[in-house]
Amino acid sequence: MTVANLQVSGLSKRYGDFVALAPTDLDVAQGEFLTLLGPSGSGKTTLLSLIAGLSQPDAGAIRINGTDVTYGAPYERDIGMVFQNYALFPHMTVAENIAFPLQMRRTDAQAARKMVMSALEMVHLPHVAERYPRELSGGQQQRIALARCMVYRPSIILMDEPLGALDKKLRDHMQLEIKRIHRELGTTIVYVTHDQEEAMTMSDRICLMNAGEIAQLGTPDDLYFRPTSVFVADFLGESNLLDATVLERAGDQVRVAMAGVEGASGAEAMVYDPQVERGRAVKLLLRPQNLHIHDGGGVGDGVATISARLTDIMVTGGMTKLYLQSSVMGGQAGEVGKSLVASFPTHRRGNRFEIGQTLGLAWRADDAVAIAG
Ligand SMILES: Nc1ncnc2c1ncn2[C@@H]1O[C@H](COP(=O)(O)OP(=O)(O)OP(=O)(O)O)[C@@H](O)[C@H]1O
Ligand SMILES: [Mg+2]
Repeated sequence: MTVANLQVSGLSKRYGDFVALAPTDLDVAQGEFLTLLGPSGSGKTTLLSLIAGLSQPDAGAIRINGTDVTYGAPYERDIGMVFQNYALFPHMTVAENIAFPLQMRRTDAQAARKMVMSALEMVHLPHVAERYPRELSGGQQQRIALARCMVYRPSIILMDEPLGALDKKLRDHMQLEIKRIHRELGTTIVYVTHDQEEAMTMSDRICLMNAGEIAQLGTPDDLYFRPTSVFVADFLGESNLLDATVLERAGDQVRVAMAGVEGASGAEAMVYDPQVERGRAVKLLLRPQNLHIHDGGGVGDGVATISARLTDIMVTGGMTKLYLQSSVMGGQAGEVGKSLVASFPTHRRGNRFEIGQTLGLAWRADDAVAIAG
């Protein structure tokens, strides 16, 4: 186990009566890429600003490499920062911009020149050293902002939506660049985004925040496949959440009763939430790609199935999505059914389904997750 080089314990922040950050514990390991993910207003920037020393907590402590820095000035923390609007100095050349933090640290001029050039090479832009920021594209400016923050080798880099201002293609490219630089430098990175795909592709671990609290902390896989709350299941990727009641639980498996599922034994599912117990009303999470479509008959043993009417078909490039309405899931007869989404890789020969058709939806027990709240 690597020693955490950032330790946050019991850290909290209020603005008047409003709790922007409830008491929060978070350990970030040396060299880890940790992402703070969550909806707008969930407290991501609040937490990052406290770590950076740009604002002060009401309670709790922040340790960097074992040293308590909770009330220390930002420059005492050995932290680099990159924000959404790169904030390069417009009247300085690229080289002067990158050299700035070195000047502040009174680095010898000749050594500084070398460090600036190696930082520029790191972001693949050695040829723009003498240009001004206005002579660069948005993506190039963001790379220079990254170079400026890396040049003095801080032990932790904090980034708050650094790619938010870039278009999709550039953002995808920059995600790879930041990952590469992270690999090469081995710096600890705490990264903020509200884009779940970005968080999934970049992070070692994701800290998903909701209303000033940590909703779940874990690997991208943990959050996507083993969510412990409906909020987490819903936030990451598309999800179908069906009402069910727990019949029995054994370890990390449950049997649930569900409207529309044939057989007295109900359906089986996985469970990662300690609150899910016998008799409890739960949601059954089924990811769209795990719903298998069949037109009646021929489903294997132990496979739960429900029927639903096809209401729409959408081809989104590589994937086809079927929108369905389950007649029974809504409960009472005549009630509008529960909406479901199923997806599968698009076929070159087109699809074989017709709107209005009734289809069977089957899933494997280990692809379903029961969640309490
Ligand atoms: N200086 C302040 N005074 C009062 N309330 C504040 C202040 N700064 C932040 N807040 C409130 O604290 C909450 C958390 O804000 P924060 O900036 O941490 O959210 P965020 O998760 O970064 O959101 P976004 O994705 O929109 O950047 C918000 O409701 C915000 O309005
Ligand atoms: Mg923010």
